[in-house]
Amino acid sequence: MTETDSLTVAMEATAAYAAFAESPHPTFKHTTYFHVYEELFAKYRGKPVTFVEVGILDGGSLFMWRKFFGQSARIIGIDLNPKAKKWESDGFEIFIGSQSDPSFWETFCADVGEIDILLDDGGHTYLQQIVTSEMMLDQITDGGMLVVEDMHTSYMDGFGDRKLSFRNYVHAWIDKLNSRFGKFPKIQSDRRVWSVFAFESIVAFNVDRSKSMLVSAPIRNRQPVEGAEDYRHHPENKLEENKAAIQGLVAQAFSLYKD
Ligand SMILES: C[S@@+](CC[C@H](N)C(=O)[O-])C[C@H]1O[C@@H](n2cnc3c(N)ncnc32)[C@H](O)[C@@H]1O
Repeated sequence: MTETDSLTVAMEATAAYAAFAESPHPTFKHTTYFHVYEELFAKYRGKPVTFVEVGILDGGSLFMWRKFFGQSARIIGIDLNPKAKKWESDGFEIFIGSQSDPSFWETFCADVGEIDILLDDGGHTYLQQIVTSEMMLDQITDGGMLVVEDMHTSYMDGFGDRKLSFRNYVHAWIDKLNSRFGKFPKIQSDRRVWSVFAFESIVAFNVDRSKSMLVSAPIRNRQPVEGAEDYRHHPENKLEENKAAIQGLVAQAFSLYKD
């Protein structure tokens, strides 16, 4: 068996792939996504979660998610195409509207209430992704998550103004998380997100308000009796040795940005 074969076998062994393969209707994902689904969503399987997917297309992913999460999950689909309403007869809740329209989300939230997981597999433009995230982060329960697929469009033409790409939105969230560090002046107090996970083409925002609200401050378990010397500023702590090797590693770390 080649290495590629064994990687395919590992992908096919996931419950997410099994649900994908068994879906009676077409669905379109990427091979790298199944391990991500497994890692992010396994803890919700068999639980009465409310799961929302933006982007229905041929309906196959609705069945995939029902199989994956189990019969006690509430599976909701959203699409701009009014024909997607037909999937209601299979027991799914379907909402028709545009993910880039804030008023659509207001009506949706009033109808549906809190949700546990939102997966954005809609139009993949930056404005669609950003409006969806900004409107829906408040609607997600503690312990839930908002997951955006196909964020590789941030590196492609035709999906909006690159200065306002979803990649830059994610970057802004990393800055917001770090702005909570206790010694920084409070630049802003957006505490809707606890952590951000990044995978190839997929980003997950984990929501946990109580963890997010914790105030950052230094803390010691006990006072040192004979304090160790802190070598951070010690003359021994110098970069001169192995300078070339260090520079090589730094160049390697940033090689993506070489012209
Ligand atoms: C990539 S497909 C969805 C694929 C599906 N989730 C699957 O796994 O098979 C994208 C879907 O997003 C829908 N869509 C495009 N723009 C939208 C918008 N502004 N609001 C809601 N849905 C939109 C399209 O009609 C299409 O059905």
